[in-house]
Amino acid sequence: MPSDVPKLLRVLNGERIDPPPIWIMRQAGRYLPEYRELRTRAKSFLDFCYSPSLATEAVMQPLRRFPLDAAILFSDILVVPDALGRKVWFVEGEGPRLEPLIGEESWRFDDPAKAVQRLAPVYETVERIKGQLDDGVALIGFCGGPWTVATYMLQGEGGDKDRARLAAYLRYGDVDALLATLVETSALHLQAQVKAGADCVQIFESWSQDLTKPLFDRLIIKPTAALVARLRQLGVTAPIIGFPRGSGAQLGRYAHETGVTGLGVDYQTPAAFAREHAPAGMPLQGNLDPQLLVAGGKFLEQGVQHVLEAFKNGPHIFNLGHGITPQATPENVAELVRLVKGA
Ligand code: CP3
Repeated sequence: MPSDVPKLLRVLNGERIDPPPIWIMRQAGRYLPEYRELRTRAKSFLDFCYSPSLATEAVMQPLRRFPLDAAILFSDILVVPDALGRKVWFVEGEGPRLEPLIGEESWRFDDPAKAVQRLAPVYETVERIKGQLDDGVALIGFCGGPWTVATYMLQGEGGDKDRARLAAYLRYGDVDALLATLVETSALHLQAQVKAGADCVQIFESWSQDLTKPLFDRLIIKPTAALVARLRQLGVTAPIIGFPRGSGAQLGRYAHETGVTGLGVDYQTPAAFAREHAPAGMPLQGNLDPQLLVAGGKFLEQGVQHVLEAFKNGPHIFNLGHGITPQATPENVAELVRLVKGA
């Protein structure tokens, strides 16, 4: 690949680059004082997500501070249920809330193609960001994994996933139909992001833990493989990073059977385990402990060295093993980027 191609895309094409490109999961957000200020300009978090000017500004904030190799669209995985006609709201300090599907007798959702039309402001945001990025900085689009989004829709909140898992048994056909709706909507949503200028996409499957093998196959692998296949059928050739957080011993099957281009590795999974179980040469992304951006100092330094060392035998994108926390300090993030870039 020509060397003016963003480093992130070169690694996703199978190249090993030293030092590796770096971006930070949830790099725009509350650990930045300028984000907290910006956030006060919208009434609700969803209003913020649907404002192309505010969302674009949120994306640019971390890039002004740190020489990161990628920008990620500012939005949320829960715009998809919102667009499908389910009520979604965010409770300050607690997290997202939805009307739970569990308890409702019949489940009806709007048509995926119509749902995606409602997300037009998100695609306008992608276009605006693309217009502002330097050439070497890749733009990442995203969606939630079908099961992760379904879990929020079923329970109406995060937390203990037991009720969602029970529904996967007791409302077998309904849950499969919900996943099929999410696969189609997410495919159209990602296609529109790529059309608007995203260079690659990430599927955040934040809740792939605590599943038996048969459930992991049915709720994670099958819908993700269907999503990847549908995207390819729609003509989307952009690389796809899958991040099945907490998948543990099932990580290798996810990497082999879903068709994703690159694999996000959570912080409790050893790099050597991911390398051993993923297809040979698959680009891996991860996996610094986000708490090290709170702890800082020698802990951060040792943590960064460990991650660099552990992943250096193949294509690697430096990242956290889960999202940055509001308690992280911008100074520690600056130090992280310095340490990775060897400056
Ligand atoms: O820089 C970025 O990555 C920002 C874009 C982004 C957000 N959410 C903004 C956000 C992305 C990629 C997400 C993904 C997301 N959203 C996931 C997958 C990643 C993960 O962390 O596992 C999930 C599970 C969600 C659902 C969600 N949205 C939760 C659980 C919360 C509350 C968490 C919290 O920290 O309060 C949100 C709200 C949210 N999404 C915030 C941001 C910046 C904080 C709300 C605010 O700023 O008012």
